[in-house]
Amino acid sequence: MTKILITGGTVISASGTTRADVLLEGETIAALGTPGFFATVAPTCERVLDATAKYVIPGGIDAHTHMEMPFGGTAASDTFESGTIAAAFGGTTSIIDFAIQRTGEDVRDGLAAWHAKAAGKCAVDYGFHQIIGGVDDAALEAMTYLADHEGVTSFKLFMAYPGVFYSDDGQILRAMQRGADLGATIMMHAENGPAIDVLVAQALGRGETAPKYHSLTRPVELEEEATHRAIMLAKVAKAPLYVVHMSAHEAVAAVARARDMGANVFGETCPQYLYLSLEEHLARSGFEGAGYVCSTPLRSRDEGHQDALWRALRTNDLSIVSTDHCPFCMKDQKELGRGDFSKIPNGIGSVEHRMDLLYQGVVTGEISLARWVEVACTTPARMFGLYPQKGVLAPGSDADVVIYDPRGTTDISAATHHMNMDYSAYEGVHVDGRVDTVVSRGRVVVENSTFTGAPGHGKFLARGLSQYLL
Ligand code: URP
Ligand code: ZN
Ligand code: ZN
Repeated sequence: MTKILITGGTVISASGTTRADVLLEGETIAALGTPGFFATVAPTCERVLDATAKYVIPGGIDAHTHMEMPFGGTAASDTFESGTIAAAFGGTTSIIDFAIQRTGEDVRDGLAAWHAKAAGKCAVDYGFHQIIGGVDDAALEAMTYLADHEGVTSFKLFMAYPGVFYSDDGQILRAMQRGADLGATIMMHAENGPAIDVLVAQALGRGETAPKYHSLTRPVELEEEATHRAIMLAKVAKAPLYVVHMSAHEAVAAVARARDMGANVFGETCPQYLYLSLEEHLARSGFEGAGYVCSTPLRSRDEGHQDALWRALRTNDLSIVSTDHCPFCMKDQKELGRGDFSKIPNGIGSVEHRMDLLYQGVVTGEISLARWVEVACTTPARMFGLYPQKGVLAPGSDADVVIYDPRGTTDISAATHHMNMDYSAYEGVHVDGRVDTVVSRGRVVVENSTFTGAPGHGKFLARGLSQYLL
């Protein structure tokens, strides 16, 4: 069995930091020991990785990605192969992507289609949530089957996108009741879609076609209202609720109030909502802002949303940072919406940069080292039934390890990133840290800025139930 020893590093966990060496045997972590503890074992190891002056952390878990997702007449530009290689470069060793069922389609066919796309292609491990785009009796039965037999224990519903993924309140309540019966997690895209559609039609009627109107027609109130409504429906159904890609301060406040009342309500945000804004990015002149169209939309920095989200991460009102990686190229894809913002495919790609961008929040004092690991690695594992296989450096856990160099630097650019995108939403952003070495289930997959893994190394993760539920 291949043995790898990681020496001299500072191990960061969700509960703090400690100097320790880490011994990997085959695909799992064998033991952690005080520095030098494994000196006699070292000569028997195939590799000894020197982590002196570096951090040793669990592999990142990105719990929200969309590889090859069809959207608006095109499809997200990363395949499972290109997207998971990019993830590996960024220190993410597990992704959870979204299989899709649309109205009228069979849920199990949707899941099978996503298995077919991913099988044999992924460079790191992967699991699936299931989007339920048509809640009916058959879909509810399928939820039970997926949770009981397929390792798919979380289901995303949409209060937005009428005619595509949208569920009305009655459908949402029924799916939540089923989620409650199963102990499964209901994930919610919380924006009031029918109201947004009215505002979009009115804006286009006034000739307001530029990308910034994407945000101006999705006002904070419609994220806040939908989030509150989802929380109330979950309360009635006695179901846990996980609100995805939150960008509005007021919506996060609704989650915080529910949590203060003891509800199983959790919030997720993404790097784009922490770093990017309506004024500086989406409202750029010409068509450049199209690269920043995503939903929920980027919010105004003048209104203080970004600061509020960092604060909520510190106070655990927000629990997880995922990317909502849904990349589209400007050429031929974002360009579909030239002259009509509503036709710009929604999504930003950043699966490669999540760990770095969040680490920059450590450098600037927004979050602690332990919180970095907690929101990017440990909580995603616990929330989505992967803990302690993933998300922690402990004996018996998968040997997913990142050596992170706090003295290194990362300059983000489309010229150097590995995602299949012809632009970067973070072009020119400098991070005071660098992913040094990445190990996925005992295999070194990134070293010296080179991919040393292989498509097909990544295995499907059949997940258990959340460990956050009452
Ligand atoms: O803009 C986004 N978020 N695109 C991906 C689909 C979704 O709603 O998560
Ligand atoms: Zn969504
Ligand atoms: Zn998404």
